[in-house]
Amino acid sequence: MQTLNLKTEPTHPDPSVCARAGELLRAGKLVAIPTETVYGLAGSALDENAVRAIFAAKGRPQDNPLIVHLAAPDWLPRYAAEIPDAAHQLVDAFWPGPLTIVLPKREMLASAVSAGLSTVGFRCPSHPVAQAVIEAAGIPLAAPSANRSGSPSPTTAAHVLADLDGRIDAIVDAGTCAVGVESTVVALHGNVPHILRPGGITPAQLKAVLGAVEIDPAVLEGLSDHAKAASPGMKYKHYAPKAKVIILKGTLDTFIDYTRAHTANGTFALCFDGEQTRIGLPCVTYGKADDSAAQARELFAALRAVDEQGAQVVYARCPAETDMGLAVYNRLLRAAGFSVIKLY
Ligand code: TXA
Ligand code: MG
Repeated sequence: MQTLNLKTEPTHPDPSVCARAGELLRAGKLVAIPTETVYGLAGSALDENAVRAIFAAKGRPQDNPLIVHLAAPDWLPRYAAEIPDAAHQLVDAFWPGPLTIVLPKREMLASAVSAGLSTVGFRCPSHPVAQAVIEAAGIPLAAPSANRSGSPSPTTAAHVLADLDGRIDAIVDAGTCAVGVESTVVALHGNVPHILRPGGITPAQLKAVLGAVEIDPAVLEGLSDHAKAASPGMKYKHYAPKAKVIILKGTLDTFIDYTRAHTANGTFALCFDGEQTRIGLPCVTYGKADDSAAQARELFAALRAVDEQGAQVVYARCPAETDMGLAVYNRLLRAAGFSVIKLY
């Protein structure tokens, strides 16, 4: 299959591009679209075959549910069977934006979207092109990140094409994604709202609206084989380059000492901006040490870059776990398959 390449400005969506993408999506085709977080691989959330095709194109495990994207917050009651007060508060505070809310779903959504669960994650993206494409399609869109399952999420059209060229009908290219890590996923059942996946909206932002929030243990720990995942996506190895990634927890000085003693051919450092001059290894950087928003923007591209440059083993500097840093650390932990060495 030839993947049609449609280009538009990010802030002024080209109406003919959005109309074409909308038509394809209504016809059950797959179109990669930009969002403020990462590129998504969109298909009609009302069409069982389109949803199955998304799983097939990505090579995604069948039990990992997809997020349903809406053009505007007022679409939510059409597709969610129940909307508790807390969900209304979150919608008012953060939609459109990088927050996914897990709610009971209505029947018309394709059952494959939720992989057999009775709930579905809803999100209303703030990217003008995403909004315009969903509006043009006139239907909710199921859209996981537009990467092959397991590899780093795509923040540019080139990343999408590297994974999916020839496997999807079209891509809408609107440049680089602004946030760089996926949306925060929140579940509201139970007494206290749960963060199932940290992302573009921070725990502190959620607490300011909801009072208390809990962070699901799976965010920072590997799940044992038989543990049941609240968010099935947390079970799988994710975001991983081909190179082996090892996180070194400690200062820049201890990082330098450790890597000096453990260098072989193909050993790289994934470090913060400005540290390259002190580290005696080929380096790929991902933002300044004290800027978690920049780390979020750059991490996935950096994980792709280490493979392009032929790295075999990558020692990674550890991000702070506060604010957006929690999402950055969560993604890096998965890219590393939870391999962390404490240098203290
Ligand atoms: O920012 C984003 O959320 C991007 C863009 C494209 O919108 N999408 C994205 O989708 O990251 P995906 O499929 O790669 O991640 C969906 C996550 C998974 O961890 C999945 O397990 C969780 O959301 N999820 C989806 N539906 C769920 C549900 N009903 N209950 C619990 N977790 C759910
Ligand atoms: Mg993904």
